Amino acid sequence: MRAVPQPCAIVIFGATGDLTHRKLIPALYNIAADGEMPPAVAVVGLARRPKTDDEYRAEMEEATRKFSRQPVRDEIWDGFARSLFYQCSDFGDEAGYRALAGRLDKLDEESGTRGNRLFYFAASPDQFETIVENLNKAGLNKARQGSWARVIIEKPFGRDLRSARELNRVVRSRFSEDQTYRIDHFLGKETAQNILVLRFANAIFEPLWNTRYIDQIQITAAETLGVENRGGYYETAGALRDMVQNHLLQLLCLVGMDPPTDLRADSIRDEKLKVVRSLRRFKAEEVRTHVVRGQYGAGTINGKPVPAYRDEERVDPNSQTETYVALRMWLDNWRWADVPIYMRVGKRLPKSSTEISVHFKRAPQVLFNRETETIEQNVLAIRIQPDEGVSLRMQAKVPGTSFRIESVKMDFHYGTSFGKASPEAYERLLLDAMAGDPTLFARGDEVEEAWAFIDPIEEAWSVKENAPKLCTYPAGSWGPEEADELMARDGRSWRRL
Ligand code: BG6
Repeated sequence: MRAVPQPCAIVIFGATGDLTHRKLIPALYNIAADGEMPPAVAVVGLARRPKTDDEYRAEMEEATRKFSRQPVRDEIWDGFARSLFYQCSDFGDEAGYRALAGRLDKLDEESGTRGNRLFYFAASPDQFETIVENLNKAGLNKARQGSWARVIIEKPFGRDLRSARELNRVVRSRFSEDQTYRIDHFLGKETAQNILVLRFANAIFEPLWNTRYIDQIQITAAETLGVENRGGYYETAGALRDMVQNHLLQLLCLVGMDPPTDLRADSIRDEKLKVVRSLRRFKAEEVRTHVVRGQYGAGTINGKPVPAYRDEERVDPNSQTETYVALRMWLDNWRWADVPIYMRVGKRLPKSSTEISVHFKRAPQVLFNRETETIEQNVLAIRIQPDEGVSLRMQAKVPGTSFRIESVKMDFHYGTSFGKASPEAYERLLLDAMAGDPTLFARGDEVEEAWAFIDPIEEAWSVKENAPKLCTYPAGSWGPEEADELMARDGRSWRRL
């Protein structure tokens, strides 16, 4: 049964940033609009620029009207806005945290937030240590008897294993693991959550879910968007750090894990950890053969010309940052031995689509599967977004007197089956944090293991001489040819999306 979200004050560090505008406040508004908000919640945005509560409310209203999942209803916004406050402070100013503590105490009395505090770090990661230390100095990391204090940390969680360990050390020095919620918004997506249900609430898949029956797995996260206004950040990250280290490896964990013994957060996370641990680490010389990196050149998206990555704002004109990665990887464990896992992620691809496809081994070459007509593999496709759902490709006889076989699809669509839109990932995750349920958040050890897989690739790319090639692809194409060659070498091809 799901834990119940509790009354609390949510303090957002980075109250005026992009994430707060686009995701956090709209998500909180939608929680309120769906009637899911605990009886007393106060949201306190904290940032440096002086502003009144009313000014902040007006700014957030504009953002919510622009980015909300559902249209904003005035009466609901008005109620929600009354619980929205602004606290002006520099992240490094100790007095600001004392003022914050005073304000939160007052809100406990006035709004009934019961001493519960949820601190959301939506600021730049280089500020996290300062915030943690100042929360500690103001005594805000420890809750009163019967209350709780929790911290939600946005990605990126470090930029390599060393920095992730350091960040874990800093956070753990002031907050326990139980208090720490490392966000990976892909885990909050409805279909990502459905992976476990599909696998473990149905009896037909699990017996086949292994190397004996599965030929290969593909995971794709394609986006039509470029780097937009995030060139500064993206230059320090690239697709491998931005998407693979976190979102895609998390999806792989959900697909690849063994059944947990129960649904407790740590039982699930223990199993996920084993998946990342069994990922085969690449040696420097293997990176060239198993990983393809690409960067988009100029091209067209939806019929409109778009610039090359190197011509985007705040991007180095000689940038070596990858906007596309394709990988061939293996999980060295009993279940998945010898099953290749192909992953690709890219910006400025022709279509936005995130999907996991599980390709089953072919039927034996007797009866219908003779050399003259090789029939296709069964493929179970889990569509994470858009058009959330699951489909199974199978073979069927074409009606008529001849014995012709064609592939058909059994298809489940969330939209038509349940007739209602799924909540946004951030809505679910914020509610879980208010309820004290960390299942859909990454644990410190998972994050570190994921970096241990990523680091050798980044290192191989960063050598000065004879580094693996950075391929280019025109915006609006499906990525560099080298990624197709990676598949062709194995006699396979990427699934058409
Ligand atoms: C973010 C990445 O974490 O996820 C972005 O930083 C990416 O680069 C985004 O565009 C994709 O998320 P979604 O939910 O839009 O698929």
